[in-house]
Amino acid sequence: MQTRVEKFTSLQMLSKQAAEYISKIITQEINKKGWCTVVLSGGKTPQLTYEYLSRPEYAGNILWEHVHLFWGDERCVPPEDPLSNFNMVNTALLSKTTIPSDNIYPVQAKPEAAEQAARAYEEEIKDFFLVRGGEDLPCFDLMLLGMGTDGHTASLFPGDSILDEKQRLVCAVCAPDTIEPQRRITLTLPAINNTGRVLFLVSGREKKGVVEKILDNRKKAARFYPAARVVPRENLVWFINESNE
Ligand code: 6PG
Repeated sequence: MQTRVEKFTSLQMLSKQAAEYISKIITQEINKKGWCTVVLSGGKTPQLTYEYLSRPEYAGNILWEHVHLFWGDERCVPPEDPLSNFNMVNTALLSKTTIPSDNIYPVQAKPEAAEQAARAYEEEIKDFFLVRGGEDLPCFDLMLLGMGTDGHTASLFPGDSILDEKQRLVCAVCAPDTIEPQRRITLTLPAINNTGRVLFLVSGREKKGVVEKILDNRKKAARFYPAARVVPRENLVWFINESNE
């Protein structure tokens, strides 16, 4: 696995480069095998990236009919809820592109049935790859991830036993009390680490220290920060904005 780190002086610069990178990988994968899978991140940081990606200079060059979109995690709220990761991506990107609705795989994150929602999403992912002759373990082409100030990624939080999950691909979890909404559905590390490429989008001065610890000594940092446990098959790319611009 190769690691690449790019530092930016603003979220705008980071987002523009991220849209460039995502668009390039999508086209590369479609040229190679005819289709491409991208797992999207939630939270605030990637929003501007999705907005850039929706612009004609990017969206116009992407063969959306061959792109299949999934989510790395979802909050257990209705899809129209402002806290929904699907809602954020739909507003910033999906609603502005020609991607077929059949190519969009949101998590059906029912607050009252989180465990069932997790199992259903796992089955949906497995079926998707099975139909395409994939192995048992899904191998997404590209996964976008963010990181919290505590080093969490997707909805894998420090100290959660899910970090040791070896079988399940998708689980229902509870975020720490300080993080709303608490009930979430998340991909597990087996699903995340079988991805070809991971692109971390991290912005903000308050995350600088954790990023530095992870980049300095990933194995040691993995004891404390879930983001340090992300080890994709081919490429790990960090796009970092250390400012609060
Ligand atoms: C979520 C994300 C989560 C996010 C980090 C960073 O659902 O919130 O999956 O892992 O990427 O919390 O969030 P910000 O980009 O908002 O700082």
